[in-house]
Amino acid sequence: MKYGFFDDNNKEYVITTPKTPLPWINYLGCTDFFTLISNTCGGYTFYKDAKLLRMTRYRYNDTTPDTNGKYFYIKDGDTIWNPGWQPTKTELDSYECRHGIGYSKFCGAKNDIEASLITFVPIGDPVELTKVTITNKGANKKEIQLFSYVEWCLWNADDDMKNYQRNLSIGEVEVLDSTIYHKTEYRERRNHYAVYSVNTPINGFETSRDEFRGAYNGPDKPAAVLAGKLNNTIASGWYPIASHQIDIVLAPGESKTFVFALGYIENPDDDKWEKPGVINKTKANTLLSKYQTSEDFDNAFAALCDYWDNLLRKFHIESKDEHVNRMVNIWNQYQCMVTFNMSRSASYYETGIGRGMGFRDSCQDLLGFVHLIPDRARERIIDIASTQFQDGSAYHQYQPLTKKGNSDIGSGFNDDPLWLIAGTSAYIRETGDTSILKKMVPYDNDMSVATTLMEHLKRSFDYIVTHKGPHDLPLIGRADWNDCLNLNCFSEHPGESFQCFGPSEGPVAESVFIAGMFVKYGREYAALCKLMGDSSEEARVLSEVDKMIAAIEKDGWDGEWFVRAYDAYSHKVGSKECDEGQIYIEPQGMCVMAGVGIENGNAEKALNSVKDKLDTKYGVMILQPAYTKYHLELGEITSYPPGYKENAGIFCHNNPWISIAETCIGRGNRAFEVYKKTCPSYIEDISDIHRTEPYVYSQMVAGADAKFHGEAKNSWLTGTAAWTFTNISQYILGIYPTLDGLSVNPCTPADFGDFNITRVYRGVTYNIEIKNPNKVQKGVASLLVDGKEIKGNIIPFDSSKKVVNVTATMN
Ligand code: BGC
Ligand code: NOJ
Repeated sequence: MKYGFFDDNNKEYVITTPKTPLPWINYLGCTDFFTLISNTCGGYTFYKDAKLLRMTRYRYNDTTPDTNGKYFYIKDGDTIWNPGWQPTKTELDSYECRHGIGYSKFCGAKNDIEASLITFVPIGDPVELTKVTITNKGANKKEIQLFSYVEWCLWNADDDMKNYQRNLSIGEVEVLDSTIYHKTEYRERRNHYAVYSVNTPINGFETSRDEFRGAYNGPDKPAAVLAGKLNNTIASGWYPIASHQIDIVLAPGESKTFVFALGYIENPDDDKWEKPGVINKTKANTLLSKYQTSEDFDNAFAALCDYWDNLLRKFHIESKDEHVNRMVNIWNQYQCMVTFNMSRSASYYETGIGRGMGFRDSCQDLLGFVHLIPDRARERIIDIASTQFQDGSAYHQYQPLTKKGNSDIGSGFNDDPLWLIAGTSAYIRETGDTSILKKMVPYDNDMSVATTLMEHLKRSFDYIVTHKGPHDLPLIGRADWNDCLNLNCFSEHPGESFQCFGPSEGPVAESVFIAGMFVKYGREYAALCKLMGDSSEEARVLSEVDKMIAAIEKDGWDGEWFVRAYDAYSHKVGSKECDEGQIYIEPQGMCVMAGVGIENGNAEKALNSVKDKLDTKYGVMILQPAYTKYHLELGEITSYPPGYKENAGIFCHNNPWISIAETCIGRGNRAFEVYKKTCPSYIEDISDIHRTEPYVYSQMVAGADAKFHGEAKNSWLTGTAAWTFTNISQYILGIYPTLDGLSVNPCTPADFGDFNITRVYRGVTYNIEIKNPNKVQKGVASLLVDGKEIKGNIIPFDSSKKVVNVTATMN
């Protein structure tokens, strides 16, 4: 069953009922100012950091899901309603929500009044704009009222939820004309405030939530809206809000349009006040004055659409498969941008107060994003590397506002260092900018010990070389990519964080997954050494890689698949010797992607085992058989009921690893089959089972052992976005950036047909035509570059050209 449809021409998903199985959200904002917005206008806004600079409140875990947002109420006689349905939930005569790229549109109608909203964050300004158009569709004159509503968060979203003894006394606001200023804590250590304004004179305002709602009313029955009159209260403490009242008279057929602006303003410390107690509004006025008319709004909206069109043009495919076209050209790239911006901090499943930027997560997000805005990728690599420790290990997370490592979670996730190599290598392959390797970058933000980024990569690599266990495989530490495989934790008491409990590293527990990563990213590091002319380092690295391959072949191979790990007793994890958890997906994907086992046939065996033992119609499960008991020696992974999350769920993130691995052995049919199973557009028809948004990936789909097999959770913020884009663009469609130029080497299903790709690479536009006359799955028989046949798969990079025309014929 579906709850809407894709409108590819407008790059929108159109939701046709507010009653989606779960809130279906979108993200507004491209750089610093962000809003999450659901299909019923729920959500919240923050500046840079969802924890530290939260502007509006959201209610987690509430009995009415998706409570609080940027609401507009319409009072028409005795009926009050919202164009997005929530929070009054008054039945609408019509409803539509269009989630687009960086904007959302809503259109609701009731009793001959139609209200349409467009909302977005303009490029370059910390403000969310909403244009509200109210139209009288009936034959009679209408006198109605429009009320806006936002509830302020007192900036620190964590403290805001917990510290009532203080917070209920500190709320402060000002109101001037049609602008409401939220200035809590501005008198003391903050130099910022928020504004909510509308471009028309208002008939009233409210800044106290109790006055607006009435003390015991919910947001569905606000007393002041029911009464049709706001009381112009200036809040003092308690729960500050912002609401405008606009009385509207509409002749039949008449429309009125209003532009609302929700903005964030920072003032220099010595210029905070206009006069004692009155905030300096100069910057607010400048910001608001830019968006005073409908035309201002429309121009800024057009600029946003241009911005996105230009970005998405960097990779564009035309094939006969509409799902691939749609996902590659629109939604997958868009999700990559969102995961890059948010890491795993703020979604409807990540509260914004728990996790900041993940070290490994952000490095992987880069893989899907770097072709879009390489400059920001460069900055991100430097930020991430700046939190690394001198011994090469890394903070597992950092806070986006301070860019400092998070010591609550600390370090000890032993895959982290290698992801820095993955991200940096992707950046250099994309841009050719080797200057980044010479840049001086601090350790743990301490510039006095800074070294070049290249030295950071060396320390990343060497961290693994110097942290090996009894089988010469890498020590796992607190966990590797699988956060829940906690082999040194031994937690016996509820409430202990698996990730932080126990020693950060034991001398025995080892990870075959990290071993695979070491081979893959060790080779990428070696290639960078070569590029930088350091052949002795290159040779040393490659010999370490060879040793690791030998260790994998000796103790990381189980006969039919790769072993997952060795626990703290040196027992195998992910082996036929185990009762449960006999085979895991991660080492099969990573080792084959690294090339291990391709020559001796083990890669094929491992991937066949994946198909036999882990496949379901909804995707490939992370392990089988599911753990039914809690294993002290394995940690959080066995804490989940069978079929959920890391315990045998379909963890979408590593499905593309299997798909890529399949392309490495040339099986395009199977690679694409794996791609399709979790691909949002392909599974739109089962939205009632899948339940999360049909336009983006979710972190997890419940596995075969789960009660709700096929149901997804944790949509939007997942490494699945970047890895899937890497998979489809670089491996299946086969346009892979190398250090020397673009490589063309597709691995598609036999019947995928011919296709054309436009790829902007290092400023040059490549028009690539791929022909597959004999329906092969892999292999390029001829490659014509501007009409000339070249040898091999790599188009040598030539910066003197603006456009390069390429024809590849598979055979
Ligand atoms: C979750 C993992 C997640 C981790 C983040 C765990 O509790 O189960 O999926 O990666 O927390 O720190
Ligand atoms: C989600 C985390 O964000 C990611 O870092 C981790 O690799 C996966 N869960 C698997 O545990």
